[in-house]
Amino acid sequence: MVPSRRRFLIGCGAAAASAGLCGQLGRGASAPFSNALPIPRLIDAAASGHTVHLKAISGRHAFIEGKPARTYGYSAPILGPVVRVRRGDEVQMVVDNHLDAATTGHWHGLLVPGHNDGGPQQLIQPRERWRPVLKVDQPAATLWFHPHPHGDTARQIYMGLAGMIIVDDGSDARLGLPRTFGVDDLPLILQDRQFDSDGSIEYDNKTLGALDIAYGARGDTVIVNGAIAPVARVPTGLVRLRLLNAANAQNFELRFSDRRVFHVIASDGGFLSAPAALNQLVIAPAERFEVLVDFADGKPVVLETGPDEQMGAFGRLAPDGSSDYVPVMRFEPTATSTAFKELPTRLTEPAPVNSASAVRRRQLILNSGLCATRTETGRHAELASLIGINGKPFDIGRIDIETKLGTTEVWQITSIGMAHPFHVHGALFRVLSIEGEPPPAHLAAWKDTLLVEDTAELLVAFDRPAMRTHPFMFHCHILEHEEAGLMGQYVCA
Ligand code: C2O
Ligand code: CU
Repeated sequence: MVPSRRRFLIGCGAAAASAGLCGQLGRGASAPFSNALPIPRLIDAAASGHTVHLKAISGRHAFIEGKPARTYGYSAPILGPVVRVRRGDEVQMVVDNHLDAATTGHWHGLLVPGHNDGGPQQLIQPRERWRPVLKVDQPAATLWFHPHPHGDTARQIYMGLAGMIIVDDGSDARLGLPRTFGVDDLPLILQDRQFDSDGSIEYDNKTLGALDIAYGARGDTVIVNGAIAPVARVPTGLVRLRLLNAANAQNFELRFSDRRVFHVIASDGGFLSAPAALNQLVIAPAERFEVLVDFADGKPVVLETGPDEQMGAFGRLAPDGSSDYVPVMRFEPTATSTAFKELPTRLTEPAPVNSASAVRRRQLILNSGLCATRTETGRHAELASLIGINGKPFDIGRIDIETKLGTTEVWQITSIGMAHPFHVHGALFRVLSIEGEPPPAHLAAWKDTLLVEDTAELLVAFDRPAMRTHPFMFHCHILEHEEAGLMGQYVCA
């Protein structure tokens, strides 16, 4: 048996644990807090004539000083712009593919019809262009965009293709929320990467081992907006952080070094009815949370992340059970006269849900086939038959579910193997229950992604059409699970 080369720090398989590799995050080379937090370019769609160009390109980015790595980005060496759109706008998107691989432009969380959703059917070949017109009609929220070409999604996102979308419906001003982009309203795109000694990041679809697939690609170094352990200067008041987990597989368990509070004001699909105060905030791949953090005391503080506790039986590593928090980034408050001081008590009541109106109930069992991954010599194919939803791996030629436009359904999601971040395209949902209990306040508003540890019930609202040619996807957002078959398709008419 020749062990396959372990490309990622696959956290927590028995083999990795006994090799002492676990504890993962924070072992990477970095001089903490020497980089200023990069702020992506803001494209305001209205100010740019309602046309937004995104060019998928390959570039070079030095995560580690003096060691540039080959990366991808949207009109940037890595990641992409933050695109701000207004409710009611029609935005002409122009996506150019300058990569040497087919890609797609998927608008994660944006409610658009299937043919504009940028799923795996909507391939943009190298040197080609895709021009969808996106009609924005949903409440204010933080969304994102990324590629979705089946078989290459995980690699393309890992290489850097991801950007943020901000939907504005006027409520920021009405609620008196911090909203000066890059000053008191900060996009924070959280990812983890594994660096080679020359500073490069590599992702080879052909050499992924069974454990890479089972646990997803995980690295030992956290990056924020593409920078390792950056530092942000913030006003001495309330600052809004738009947190996006754009990692392939890692859950971030966030806390502040001094345990100050996250006032969660919004989740994936928009505002909560009132701020929810948490000392610790878990954010799974593809989830977003908007939080207000109070820096009025002027004291610098470090945002940290803990060991990923959501990985099932193999997730706990530290033999002594010690918690192993590592720095994500640092905040340094500097006095300004314009800081927001007052935390709103009420936000926006999410549209009411009535589970009695659901027209049907479905059960989806997400299986990552973890039990088959004891050896590192396993191959993709051996796992594929075990990875799937309701026993079936993804088939782009099969429609799994037919829904009716304008109806709601209860979907009961059950995770096997480990906690899976379940995501639905083209729809938002409300969490009815998690392990039979009502959801905590910060998970009680509209969402499109939920980390399901065991079982959760969702009330899914189908408000956008999708035909058989361009169905909507539902899948686990651990990208290696999605690629290996933890994905299905639905139509809506
Ligand atoms: Cu973030 Cu199928 O998407
Ligand atoms: Cu999964």
